[in-house]
Amino acid sequence: MELNPKLLEALIGHRSEPESILGLLKEAGLDSARLSKINSTADPVTPYSRVVLSAAPGCEIMLARWTPERVCAPHDHGVSSGWVFYLEHDFEERSYSWQEGELVSVGTFSHRAGTCTEVRKEEIHSCMSNGSGLSLHVYFPRIEKMRVYDLNERRTLVVADDCGAWIPDRPEQRVAEMAWPG
Ligand SMILES: [Fe+2]
Repeated sequence: MELNPKLLEALIGHRSEPESILGLLKEAGLDSARLSKINSTADPVTPYSRVVLSAAPGCEIMLARWTPERVCAPHDHGVSSGWVFYLEHDFEERSYSWQEGELVSVGTFSHRAGTCTEVRKEEIHSCMSNGSGLSLHVYFPRIEKMRVYDLNERRTLVVADDCGAWIPDRPEQRVAEMAWPG
């Protein structure tokens, strides 16, 4: 699926206005009912299945269908920022920060269906849906070199751009791997 370049341009122009982003998508026929059908099935293995609506350099749009109560790995978003729209079911988000060489949980947040949150550069978080949630992710620019943090093995993985927020099984999705000191 490739979106009209004019739509992408408009989204980039309204990147700081989440209501406008949803409005532009709706005008293009991508209302919540349609989005729900585009990604209706969770993945049996990973925390969510991914459907990429745009992988244009300036704007990535990804729809995630979640497996209930399966938390994704803590991750960043490369140099990108943008919005997560919680379209179906409620979500729990956990934020992390580095403290003395360890990645520690510093807060949890509940997000009701129908709300959205801003994704900021450099921020590290994980997420979980309470049900078969659907979330819409809009990033500027496209996410590249996302880092996933493996709390059990104490390592950071740079993952391929077609990988979500989990430790990939497929070696070709592991772009780089760094052990944490200590
Ligand atoms: Fe994220």
